[in-house]
Amino acid sequence: MKPLLEVRNLTVEFNTASATVHAVNDVSYTLAEGETLGIVGESGSGKSVHALSMVGLIAMPPGRVVRGEVLFNGRNLLALSQRELFDLRGKEIGFIFQDPMTSLNPVLTIERQIAEPLRRHLGLSASQARKRVVELLELVGIPDAERRAGQYPHEFSGGMRQRVMIAIGVSCNPKLLIADEATTALDVTVQAQILELVRDLKKKIGTTVIWITHDMGVVAGLADTVQVMYGGRIMERGPVRAVFNDPRSAYTWGLLKSLPHGSQRGVKRLYQIPGNPPDMTREPVGDPFAPRNRFATERCFRETPPLVDAADSVSGHKVAAWYDLRQELAKLEAASHD
Ligand SMILES: Nc1ncnc2c1ncn2[C@@H]1O[C@H](COP(=O)(O)OP(=O)(O)O)[C@@H](O)[C@H]1O
Ligand SMILES: [Mg+2]
Repeated sequence: MKPLLEVRNLTVEFNTASATVHAVNDVSYTLAEGETLGIVGESGSGKSVHALSMVGLIAMPPGRVVRGEVLFNGRNLLALSQRELFDLRGKEIGFIFQDPMTSLNPVLTIERQIAEPLRRHLGLSASQARKRVVELLELVGIPDAERRAGQYPHEFSGGMRQRVMIAIGVSCNPKLLIADEATTALDVTVQAQILELVRDLKKKIGTTVIWITHDMGVVAGLADTVQVMYGGRIMERGPVRAVFNDPRSAYTWGLLKSLPHGSQRGVKRLYQIPGNPPDMTREPVGDPFAPRNRFATERCFRETPPLVDAADSVSGHKVAAWYDLRQELAKLEAASHD
C-alpha cells in the first residue's frame, strides 16, 4: 500500500522561562492510504503535540520543531508556509478536537460553521454550500437536518455537537482525518454511535484516519494499527490484534492490564500502573518508562532503545525495549506456580 503520511524523526520541544519540555522525541512512522491508526498513551505522552505540530498548529514560540520531516503525499509539511498550511488544513487534512463547546462558535449557526470551509476550500456558492451542509448533517446522523442547520450550538446536545464537529472534519472529503480525544467527553452510548459513524464514513469515503485517545478500548474497536506513546516516544506499534494479544512493551502490558473487563466495560477507571508520569523537562535519556518498569535493566536507564521488529511476531509489530517482556512474563508465571 502507498504511504499517505511518513513521519521521520519528529522532535518537538517547548522552551518556557523555567525549562525545556521535551514533548515529542524522535517519532517516526508510516501511515498507508486507507489505514486507521490508533494512538494511545496516558495524558502528557505527546500524542496531541505530535499531531498538532505536523500541521503547524502549535504556538511557536514557545513550541519548536527541533528536527524531523512530515511527508504528506511526498510533500514535507514542516517546510510549508503558514498560508500553504492554512489551505491544507480542513481541506486535505481534517481535524476533530475534543471539546465541541470551545471549538464551535456560539454566536454562529451550525450551517454557517459547516459552510465556511466548503466555501473557502471548495469555492461553493451559498446555495451549493447550504445543500452540502444538509447532506453532511444527514451523513453524521442528525435528524431533521434542514431545520437543525439553522440552529445554534447551544441548541444541540453534547453528542450532536460532536457529530457536527465530525461533519466539519470530513466536509471537504479530506485524505486524512485526525481525531484527538474526539469521544472522550461523551457517554458510552454516544461514543459507540460516533465510532460506528466513523467506521461507516470510512466505508463511504475511504478516509485515512489517525484516532488519538487514552482509551485502549476505543482503539480495539476502530483501528487497524495501534501505536503506544509514552514520554514523547513510540514504545510499541503494530496490528491491533498482535499488540493487544502479545504486547512486547511493559508499558503496553500495563495499559492492557488496567483495562476494565467484561461486565465492567465502559466503566471509567484510572490506569493502575504504579509510579508517576515522566518529567518531560528532563533530558530524554534511556527508556522513559524505566522508572516505572519492574522489568527494567540497568541499560534501560542509560540508553534509549530503538523501535525495532518484535521477535517472532507478525510483520509491522515493533517495540522499543531492551528487556524481553515474554521472558519476564514467563518467569513471573513460573514463580507463581512455585
Ligand atoms: N504550550 C505548551 N507549553 C509547554 N508545554 C506544553 C505545551 N503544550 C504541551 N506541552 C507539554 O508537552 C507534553 C506533551 O503534551 P500532549 O501532547 O498534550 O500530551 P497528550 O496529548 O499525550 O496528553 C506535556 O508534557 C505537556 O505538558
Ligand atoms: Mg492530548
